[in-house]
Amino acid sequence: MWLYNLIVLSAIVALGAADGDDEFANYTVTNRRFPDDFRFGVATAAHQIEGAWNLDGKGPQIWDTFFHEHPEKVDDGSNGDVATDSYHLYKEDIRCMNEVGVVFYRFSLAWSRILPDGTLNNINQAGIDYYKNIFKELKAKGIRSFVTIYHWDIPTALQEKGGWLNPEVVDWYVAYAKFCFETFGEYVDNWITINEPKQICHAGYGLGVYAPGVVSNGIGEYVCARHVLLAHAKAWRLWDEKYRPIFHTETTIVLDSDWYEPATYSESDAIAAETKRQFIFGMYANPIIHGNWPKVMIDNIAEFSKKQGFNESRLPAFSNEEIELIKGTYDNLAINHYTTYMVKSIPEPTYEVSFDADSGVATYQKDTWETAAIDWFKVVPWGMGKLLRWLKHTYGDQVFLISENGVSDRTGTLRDQHRIDYIKNYLSHLLDAIYDGGVNVKAYTLWSIIDNFEWTQGFNGKLGIYYVNQSDPSLPRIPKDSSKYYANVIKTKCLVDECV
Ligand code: BGC
Repeated sequence: MWLYNLIVLSAIVALGAADGDDEFANYTVTNRRFPDDFRFGVATAAHQIEGAWNLDGKGPQIWDTFFHEHPEKVDDGSNGDVATDSYHLYKEDIRCMNEVGVVFYRFSLAWSRILPDGTLNNINQAGIDYYKNIFKELKAKGIRSFVTIYHWDIPTALQEKGGWLNPEVVDWYVAYAKFCFETFGEYVDNWITINEPKQICHAGYGLGVYAPGVVSNGIGEYVCARHVLLAHAKAWRLWDEKYRPIFHTETTIVLDSDWYEPATYSESDAIAAETKRQFIFGMYANPIIHGNWPKVMIDNIAEFSKKQGFNESRLPAFSNEEIELIKGTYDNLAINHYTTYMVKSIPEPTYEVSFDADSGVATYQKDTWETAAIDWFKVVPWGMGKLLRWLKHTYGDQVFLISENGVSDRTGTLRDQHRIDYIKNYLSHLLDAIYDGGVNVKAYTLWSIIDNFEWTQGFNGKLGIYYVNQSDPSLPRIPKDSSKYYANVIKTKCLVDECV
């Protein structure tokens, strides 16, 4: 009997412990080459690099205001007023890109640099000229432009009217996007309407840890999400009907997703992990692909809202016309991916009014995972492969782009072997997903070309492959070892010394 018990017990332990860590315990980096048409790029965002926060007519946006009013919200007490001064040093950034040999540069336009109060009543020619100069410089260096219209920085003047919580934001955003299509259409190779709605709404209008700092967990963030999706969809339709035939470019939205791995092989943990994925990624992907929120969100939030005494679901519904409007508004699925979480089912939901409670599951990360510059940022390369396979399984044969991936440290060391390992291992799992999983991934974007202003971490989160010395007023860009590694990957299409 004891032998039987031992066998059962070992089976349970083995099953309970089996996850990506076990599956890939003896993993070796692939020596297969990237397909010929695979493209490599780098990314930044306006507030994180431009600086010149009030120069040449730029209006304030929510991050300027948030950090000026709440310096305590930034880890190192810094702010984005100067950042890496790419307003003046953009040619330096492009020189670095050229050195690395990237095919494209993903960067964002600052709404309030172009339209200082957010509306067409006030157009800032200096802002337009700034971006045109960047486009020209990129063209001169043969680098394609991948342009994000909105990377989290709504003008303060619009935030004073409610920002992403005001239904009028849909029209404000579409007017701005139309202006961008018309003004910059001829220079842009790929458009992105909006970067990471989850961070905009959950961190900005739910938890309130990001600008504009609105705390409305499980309520405001859903209103925000609805508006972001409508704004994206209307802009995409406008571009599709009016500008696609002229410029023949592609447009999409960028969604972020961590990987959510079931804590055990139990059915309940598998369901819990899938629920979490739907709350994190499906919340935005499902409307864009199928027209509506994921069913598990509609059901959970309706049930919880009722129990909590709300007259209607905290998740605002889409009308049939809205569903038709949103459905299909993408050309490819662009994903930002950095880390992984484990997911466990819980016996009874907590019924708090919050986004996390609405998913009704528990998440955690393992202490054994290497940590980057901030606690939640664990290095888990196999999460990349699992996420990509799940995306294909769930959303079918789409064209996928990795629009951000990279790792932070606090020092900006030039000898950044940990970053080389991160890039190599994450890309290796990406390649396996292409060759073994049949996932159609066409591009990879490294965040970031230079160390920059990492939002609430300030300059304590450095993700660049070029170091920027913040104590030298000329803010020189200095190559790290990882820039040479990435350059070699781009050149050879190979992650290791020799490929087959
Ligand atoms: C954002 C970037 C940010 C990066 C690294 C992404 O969520 O789009 O702006 O710097 O993550 O944390």
